[in-house]
Amino acid sequence: MDGRDLVRSVRVVRAVGPVQGLRSVRAAWRARRADARALPRRGAERARVPGPARGAEPQPGGGVIHFARSSLRVRVASGGAVFCGWDGAAPEPSYALAGACPEPDARAVLEPDTEGGWRVVSERVLVVVSRHGAVEVRTPGGAVLRRELPPRWWDRTDGPGAEAGGDAGRPEGGGGSRWVQRSEVAADARFFGLGGRAHGPRLRDGAYRLWNTDPGGAFVPGDDPLSLTMPVQLVVADAGTHLVFHDNSWDGRVLLREGTEGAGSGHDRPGACELRMDGGPLRYWVLAGTPARVLQVWTALTGAPALPPQWALGHQHARWGFGGQEEVRRVVSGYQERGLPLSAVHLDIDHYDRHRVFTVDRERYPDLPGLARELRAEGVRLVSIVDPAVQAAPGDPVYEGGAAADAFVRDDRGREVRGVVWAGESVYPDFTEARVRKWWGGLYGERLAQGFSGFWHDMNEPVSFAPFGAQTLPRSARHALEGRGGDHREAHNVYGLAMARAGFEGLCELRPGERPFLFSRSGWAGMQRYGGTWSGDVATGWPGLRASLSLVLGLGLCGVPYGGPDVGGFSAVPSGELYLRWFQLGAYLPLFRTHSALWAGRREPWEFGAEVLEHARAALRERQRLLPYFGTLGQLARLTGAPYVRPVWWSAPRDRALRDCEDAFLLGDALLVAPALAAGVTRRPVRLPRGRWYDTATGRAYDGPGQVWVEAPLSRIPVLARAGAVLPVAGEDGGTELEVWAPAAGRGGSGLVVPDAGDGWQRPTVERFTTRWADGRVVVERRDGSALGYPVRVRGLEGG
Ligand code: NOJ
Repeated sequence: MDGRDLVRSVRVVRAVGPVQGLRSVRAAWRARRADARALPRRGAERARVPGPARGAEPQPGGGVIHFARSSLRVRVASGGAVFCGWDGAAPEPSYALAGACPEPDARAVLEPDTEGGWRVVSERVLVVVSRHGAVEVRTPGGAVLRRELPPRWWDRTDGPGAEAGGDAGRPEGGGGSRWVQRSEVAADARFFGLGGRAHGPRLRDGAYRLWNTDPGGAFVPGDDPLSLTMPVQLVVADAGTHLVFHDNSWDGRVLLREGTEGAGSGHDRPGACELRMDGGPLRYWVLAGTPARVLQVWTALTGAPALPPQWALGHQHARWGFGGQEEVRRVVSGYQERGLPLSAVHLDIDHYDRHRVFTVDRERYPDLPGLARELRAEGVRLVSIVDPAVQAAPGDPVYEGGAAADAFVRDDRGREVRGVVWAGESVYPDFTEARVRKWWGGLYGERLAQGFSGFWHDMNEPVSFAPFGAQTLPRSARHALEGRGGDHREAHNVYGLAMARAGFEGLCELRPGERPFLFSRSGWAGMQRYGGTWSGDVATGWPGLRASLSLVLGLGLCGVPYGGPDVGGFSAVPSGELYLRWFQLGAYLPLFRTHSALWAGRREPWEFGAEVLEHARAALRERQRLLPYFGTLGQLARLTGAPYVRPVWWSAPRDRALRDCEDAFLLGDALLVAPALAAGVTRRPVRLPRGRWYDTATGRAYDGPGQVWVEAPLSRIPVLARAGAVLPVAGEDGGTELEVWAPAAGRGGSGLVVPDAGDGWQRPTVERFTTRWADGRVVVERRDGSALGYPVRVRGLEGG
């Protein structure tokens, strides 16, 4: 046991007490023994590269190129996404893909290239494969977006896949061989994505692990990995933007190194990416185009983001450690008495009976359905935490039900795998099996009967507290993997995603008329189909505040648009200033939720003095006013994949200064938000994209591109509106009105409104508006020529 193990042991004992602490020692030993017994030892291996190309066979969308010791399938799908699969790997089965794999592009053709290579020519991309298996993805104009060098595998020589030569003898998709793939991108390229990373959004040189991990209480920039990793990179360069997704859920490492430019000397060093995976297929997708186009194709491939119900866009208050229903009531009244809008209260594990999932502590919550009804009548919903681990307690109905349904993960000898979480010794549903998802989904009926309206999935990396070794299930634990069978090495990263699916599908069945509201700490590519996420246990402190923004931006670029941090940070008591700045940032992020750890003080806006309260009230009211805009952005995310919160380079990826800007973001097309991210800030520089921008507080106009200084007093963070923007906001009477920002002279503008049609499944109507100057006045019209239908307020006229 080293020093770190000791710290962890203390933490485990603090979390679950000495008895369960001892159990966690036992569980950790069991895990270690099971892995030693059941996992193949790293034995003799033989390195393999594809070798020279021997021939190719055309197929719809491209074809298969045969090499001496492997094969590569290249398929361009309609819509332009390129699939590459080595060693016979096909796009399916996949946890990421939304449904049927997209049709191949019938017009894409495989042709011989120079020097014994091959190429697939299509309208949107050109894929060039060299004789030795390097793959270049180029724009139709020929600019290289990405060059993958020939991969290298390490095949076991004492097990399956031992034989060399072609694909013979290797399980479909490469099976258990480790592999590495190196790639090059342009010298000017910047990397983003890889799921939720605390030190982004621009991913600098370094190693990033692909293994969903609970950072254990408080993370800061530099801690890696966190709860939600994804092998999804967005790469932005002058030559174009592309997304690459390695569809492989095994443990892996991504090494990134940004390139350097030789200032015209011709000595550019390209950017480099190396991906090392412990196993699983070598298959990937490359999507190229503008950022908006890439996200659109990505969400067409992996699924449209679930649309949160309208109420989930309002302010939500969570706490670990509410004393009981009286305290919940008091907090809600506190909001109401002070005129602070509140749309939901989240109950953490302390509302459970002895921390057991799907139960209620009846002493502290004698009438939860009554409380829920009462609050609902006042416009406040209840959201329940849901942890996946089930206490292994004979007689507990959830445990008994799961055991009867054979729902829990087993080890290589067929015994239930037991870990330790809040409730003590626990078992884990195997969400990678349809019938287990169905059983689990049905359990949300109990939550609905208690009056809950939304669900907060936690600890689903999944976590098992361990004083040493990994804080999760043993890697040898068995999983159904949709009938294919496999172990935790493959299932770990998709555990949270599959749990989200179970919850989402269960809720759709239990309450078919309403869209589920669900967000999850862990997940994987495609999780947006079922809901959103939140930052997990971000450390209270200015670095944590920055990390909050990185996480939301990075995940948005991976296709998960709905997210937000614990306002105030999770782990400690924030100063009034830090709390307020966090609150002000949170007001412009999709999930706007205050939350804290049991030991980290309170997060009600009135706990930090009169001045903080006054400014927090202003932020809350502004959020309330922007709700129709947030609703529109949610609908647009669903329709187009464009996240609510976008990097400032979103529409100008070639602007290098914007590409490097990490301290501001676009909220939709209309607004640019520049949070205060350090102590003592009263003004700050803001890098503007091209065009005219108005400071929404002062009306002052600035012209981009370039950097300007704007006021950032404690009372607000700078928000700038794009000239010509049309956005829906709530008017004084609660109805929607159009806020129009005067176009620059001689220019026009536009905006979209997608009205809220209730919290069901109604098809949205997209309303399009344009604005222009005519006879010295700003005119606003509907693009289809029909009546405007909304009151209009033109702003920015005073700016000059
Ligand atoms: C960890 C979660 O990240 C946190 O938000 C929650 O309060 C605790 N678990 C307790 O449930």
